[in-house]
Amino acid sequence: MASLVIAIDGPAASGKGTLARKIAERLGFAYLDTGAIYRAAAHHLLRNMNSAPENEADAIAAAEYVRDNLDDNMTSNPELRAEDVAQATSKIAANQKVREILLDAQRKYAESPPDVNDAMAGGAILDGRDIGTVVCPKADVKLFVTASNEVRAKRRYDEQISKGVDVEYDAILADMIERDKRDRERSVAPLKPADDAFVIDTSNDTPKDVLARALDIIRGHLAEQVAKNAP
Ligand code: CDP
Repeated sequence: MASLVIAIDGPAASGKGTLARKIAERLGFAYLDTGAIYRAAAHHLLRNMNSAPENEADAIAAAEYVRDNLDDNMTSNPELRAEDVAQATSKIAANQKVREILLDAQRKYAESPPDVNDAMAGGAILDGRDIGTVVCPKADVKLFVTASNEVRAKRRYDEQISKGVDVEYDAILADMIERDKRDRERSVAPLKPADDAFVIDTSNDTPKDVLARALDIIRGHLAEQVAKNAP
């Protein structure tokens, strides 16, 4: 049987990564943070190539570098979370060629997820901006996770402060709004809920509540699918 695929999309700091990780843990699924792949390309472009997102040829070369050298070390580098990397990421992520180069790895992951804890994964969870619309349009369950601008900015602010990074709330809010606007308005693979996505607003919920809601949706939806396909 083909493994299950759960697609989670949403704007910056909406809680999709936390949710995806918890669902993956609960269900024994493999988890791919696709934002980290785009961030790795922007990081390589800025820090190793000393270039800028406006240089299209370099942005494409950076995406190719990531495609050809992708590993866990690359995507777990804490420097990927720097704000200048985030902004450069959303700039290069608007480029169709960059997206095409990084698409295959994401689809392959969904089709044959790696083992989890030495056991075959029961499925894959991918989170990003276009998982339910472009990367895995046939995903078994699609969630679109969102929250108000202020709540999302506060979450990112708290996250950075807890890591000892000196940041201003207002600057975080402004940067986040700018990045979301770019992600929503780009012509290729814009951030938007798929028609068949379940939208979850996490503004007033704890991560535990959000997980419970998401698991209810996943169980309910899969039960419906099974019932529909029953002879
Ligand atoms: O953690 P946060 O939600 O702030 O960002 P992320 O998920 O790491 O994504 C960083 C940037 O990568 C986004 O602002 C998008 O521009 C881009 N991205 C994308 O275009 N498509 C994806 N599937 C994932 C990320």
